[in-house]
Amino acid sequence: MSWKDTVEELSKKPAYQGGISASEVTKHYNINIKKFANLQSNENLFVPSSYLKSIFNVAIKELDPRLYPKDEPTRLEEALASYTGVKPDSVLLGSGADQLMDLLISLFGPHGGIAYPVPTYSYYGISATLRGIKTVEVPYLKDFSMNIDKLIAASPSITFVCTPNNPTGHAVNDEQLKELIERSKGLVVVDETYTEFLGKSFASLIDKYNNLIILRTMSKSFGIASLRVGYLLANANLTLNLKKAQLPFVVSTLGAIVSINLLQKLPYFKSKWMEAQNTMKKFLNELEPGVARTPTATYFVTISTCKPNNDVYVELLKYGYITRIIRPFMDYKNPIRLSVAPYKMISNLPYLINGLSKC
Ligand SMILES: Cc1ncc(COP(=O)(O)O)c(C=O)c1O
Repeated sequence: MSWKDTVEELSKKPAYQGGISASEVTKHYNINIKKFANLQSNENLFVPSSYLKSIFNVAIKELDPRLYPKDEPTRLEEALASYTGVKPDSVLLGSGADQLMDLLISLFGPHGGIAYPVPTYSYYGISATLRGIKTVEVPYLKDFSMNIDKLIAASPSITFVCTPNNPTGHAVNDEQLKELIERSKGLVVVDETYTEFLGKSFASLIDKYNNLIILRTMSKSFGIASLRVGYLLANANLTLNLKKAQLPFVVSTLGAIVSINLLQKLPYFKSKWMEAQNTMKKFLNELEPGVARTPTATYFVTISTCKPNNDVYVELLKYGYITRIIRPFMDYKNPIRLSVAPYKMISNLPYLINGLSKC
């Protein structure tokens, strides 16, 4: 195959849609609002930007921008190990969790493809498809349990399970997850991107199961999606060998120093995770029973009303809320995913949705 064939192949494949900007909203929908509430990308708006910037300013004083990272990534691995309760050798850094997914999919995917319960984070499938790697999607059952037999029958080299799951927010059942890990011949990657908001993790099991990889990120819980700092946790034999295939300087010096500083401020962040959970509870309480909602355990949720989701989406844009349209699943015929933000930013949102849900 020539390089032109490869480009031609890529041109036929889907790209990841990262969300729409305010100027795109104005262009596509002719809606001109100065400041939108960005509820479309599960960004953590509970941590004030000014707080994070003050930490960036401290970090900038420490670094020399002309130099490659030196011991900062190692210090970050140590800090993450102590935060997650594993040994430093079990931590592998990435440029966001997405880049670690790419690494795993390109290394292991060609030997058996990947499988995952759906609906879930779209990037697993997109990353594999772009690399010509087989994907098997196994729908969640109506009670949000996994169809483990079908996932096992696909015999993939990697099974991805996201918990709390994007876009439903539901926490995957622990016993089911253990059964999946025990019965899988391939790797099981548990994507714990939102785990801090749930308050539990499978990290302590990485030495018990040598096929278990935990994916984590600083993007959501610590609010630094802009810096692109992710990590995975696995038994040291796996991480030390994966490290050989990882980019040499995968995390920037700034990303490493800021992350180390943020990990020293756990009580502050815990209070923010709590605020996010409480805000979600309040938001859901204010929604009328006619608005279907997924059983979320985190700060985003997928809702569905009797109105076409595109109409609801555009109406919410007019009121300054950018949300995300999702493909229908189960009984959720008109799904829209949104994350909550500090209550004063979204105080009229439940009432708008209630109003829009009358058919
Ligand atoms: C389930 C899930 N995993 C991973 C990511 C990406 O994380 P990162 O910013 O670390 O690449 C996202 C982003 O929305 C996500 O929803």
